[in-house]
Amino acid sequence: MEHKQKTALVTGATGGIGEAICETLAATGVSVAVHYHQNKAAAEELAQRLQGLGVRAVAYGADVTRPQAAQELVQRVDDELDGIDILINNAGITVGGLDVADMEVDAWLHMVDVNLNSVFYLCRAAIPRLRARGGGQIVNVSSNIVNSLPGGSSAYAATKSALVAFTKVLSKEVARDNIRVNALSPGLIAAGMGQGAMDRRDPAVLERFIDTIPIGRPGEAQEIANVISFLISDAASYVIGQNLTVNGGDRTESYQ
Ligand SMILES: NC(=O)c1ccc[n+]([C@@H]2O[C@H](COP(=O)([O-])OP(=O)(O)OC[C@H]3O[C@@H](n4cnc5c(N)ncnc54)[C@H](OP(=O)(O)O)[C@@H]3O)[C@@H](O)[C@H]2O)c1
Repeated sequence: MEHKQKTALVTGATGGIGEAICETLAATGVSVAVHYHQNKAAAEELAQRLQGLGVRAVAYGADVTRPQAAQELVQRVDDELDGIDILINNAGITVGGLDVADMEVDAWLHMVDVNLNSVFYLCRAAIPRLRARGGGQIVNVSSNIVNSLPGGSSAYAATKSALVAFTKVLSKEVARDNIRVNALSPGLIAAGMGQGAMDRRDPAVLERFIDTIPIGRPGEAQEIANVISFLISDAASYVIGQNLTVNGGDRTESYQ
């Protein structure tokens, strides 16, 4: 895939999947705004590495759960990287194994803020800019949890399901502006929060779970980044408002 002359804002770029997305986009000629929340050192190191691939790359810190911070982030990227063409809403958090009755209100609200509200704030800020450039791409990273909906996942599953609904609605509002909006739902990935969940599990339980994945293994972050690269390319020009599940084969089990 070649995406030369484009600029992407990737949120949660310091995470396992975010890093792979940034590296893949940079390798195809995209300038990258490397968003981080707390991990400034990792974001700056990644931005430097991307610059080595011959693209512009800058680390931007922002708590995108605050509407003003999200607005300012998009504004800065637009100003400093000469426009924004692609928004990858990848930042996300999870808490597994917590039943509704045991969940603190603040924990619920924080998950809604990070996984859902931030995406609204960023899309709202980015769309006028994408329109002004004659079009663009938005990809929202959801999760295979929207298919499996296991007990103990209420906040994560609700926010990721709402993100898919949001994606489908938004895609209709902006399709005629030449802005394509899609979602991507990874299954279990051997990076970031997926790797963390695997590391915490009893090896025998983990092996049984992995056996339920038709391909017989977790995915790699690169396998998610590859599909994002496709989704934002002209090869996907008629793909709009979809939730592309990338999970190693159809299944309803989920790993918490
Ligand atoms: N890994 C998997 O198996 C898997 C499976 C399905 C879906 N997903 C989804 O894929 C996306 C990336 O997952 P990952 O595994 O790469 O996650 P990760 O490694 O845990 O990274 C999470 C990222 O989100 C950022 N973040 C956390 N709180 C934030 C906040 N308040 N505001 C802004 N950014 C914040 C973190 O920034 P800092 O580190 O800079 O603080 C980090 O870059 C998430 O949306 C996740 O739900 C992952």
